[in-house]
Amino acid sequence: MKIAMVGTGYVGLVSGACFADFGHQVVCVDKDAGKIEALKRGKIPIYETDLDKLVETNAAAGRLTFTTELAGAVADADAVFIAVGTPSRRGDGHADLSYVYAAAKEIGAALKKFTVVVTKSTVPVGTGDEVERLIRETNPDADFAVASNPEFLREGAAIQDFRHPDRIVVGTEDDRAKRVMGEVYRPLYLNQAPILYTARRTAELIKYAANAFLATKITFINEIADLSERVGANVQEVARGIGLDNRIGTKFLHAGAGYGGSCFPKDTRALFKTALDHDVQLKIVEATLTANDNRKRAMARKVANVLGGELRGKTIGVLGLTFKPDTDDMREAPSIPLINGLIDFGAKVRAYDPIGMEQARKELPEIEYCKDAYECARQADALVIVTEWRQFRALDLKRIKQEMKHPVVVDLRNIYRPDEMAAHGFTYDSIGRPR
Ligand code: UDX
Repeated sequence: MKIAMVGTGYVGLVSGACFADFGHQVVCVDKDAGKIEALKRGKIPIYETDLDKLVETNAAAGRLTFTTELAGAVADADAVFIAVGTPSRRGDGHADLSYVYAAAKEIGAALKKFTVVVTKSTVPVGTGDEVERLIRETNPDADFAVASNPEFLREGAAIQDFRHPDRIVVGTEDDRAKRVMGEVYRPLYLNQAPILYTARRTAELIKYAANAFLATKITFINEIADLSERVGANVQEVARGIGLDNRIGTKFLHAGAGYGGSCFPKDTRALFKTALDHDVQLKIVEATLTANDNRKRAMARKVANVLGGELRGKTIGVLGLTFKPDTDDMREAPSIPLINGLIDFGAKVRAYDPIGMEQARKELPEIEYCKDAYECARQADALVIVTEWRQFRALDLKRIKQEMKHPVVVDLRNIYRPDEMAAHGFTYDSIGRPR
């Protein structure tokens, strides 16, 4: 199959490289000439496990190329994927679709033979209809079908997720488009991953409903964690106790500092707004949104409480800044409201993150950045673990304690056991577990 991937952001680049690795001929298109030049030289603009190697091998094999010329790439393609950004629109929380629509028009003008135009970006229900209308308006004679094919990749595990999906969702009722999409995903299909063919609007809603459900699941266990703290229960055991019921499932039940990232916050907001436009009040999604936003800032109060309610003049070390491990992504990271809260309460903050510090400086310019976890602990009144990077799971606790002014650890990811921390002489607090 010949594939054009429009947009070399996170989704576009990962999907493009993985499709090329399946053996397809893939051209990745972007308007940003600097980015395309860099990609041609093998420079990857994002951090994702093993992506650099995948791009390198497939580019060397001639299956993966990069260009700024959309028309040439589209004219040849069996399938054109739209994988441009859909940021939250400032002010109203709706998804900003201007990039998607601009791409649709350009693609429309370039179509030469039957082509499936696929929306891969997360787009509100009905966007496929508008993409179809725009292409038809631009090029009334074009032979094409528009399909929705949402992605469910997790950052940090995107390549693994792409190769071993739980399911592939393809929203189209056009038989030719179904055949093309079946070919595109054939290697996975052979691996038994189910392809679910649905109507286009259904596919668009599946993506939002999946993310909103997972965000709600996390928020639910976070609230149960708060209650656990009050009643002396252990939220990890509660999660396991309910998760082993197959109807509930053990995944996405880790209580923490609140969910962040480029998808959950944006998609839950957009789903809520879309529903309002259709006169439907998604009260559970709304409650999830509010509870999660409040939670991130509440983490600063939690730290203050452990230190007797007063942070003025105190130094807090923060371990982990990115919204989760194995990424440099700071979007909607809980560390941002948490650290701003600590600063508002009068604390001095120093921080360390294995990969994310460059991105973090843009969001949090006024804090001190350290070269490792031990420097971060130096003379600190408390150390707060915000992101569960693997290297933080095996800290030399003796050394950490020696570095600190007061041995206080607030573990917002429950990566240590209360009894081991007590044995090391730490005052230790975590999420939803008895102190
Ligand atoms: C998510 C979805 O998993 C993916 O299917 C979708 O395509 C994009 O959004 P991602 O944002 O990369 O992927 O990260 P994910 O691993 O799902 O975590 C999202 C947030 O939830 C993180 O902040 C994480 O710390 C938090 N989380 C996750 C929890 O707090 N508890 C959990 O049990 C799981």
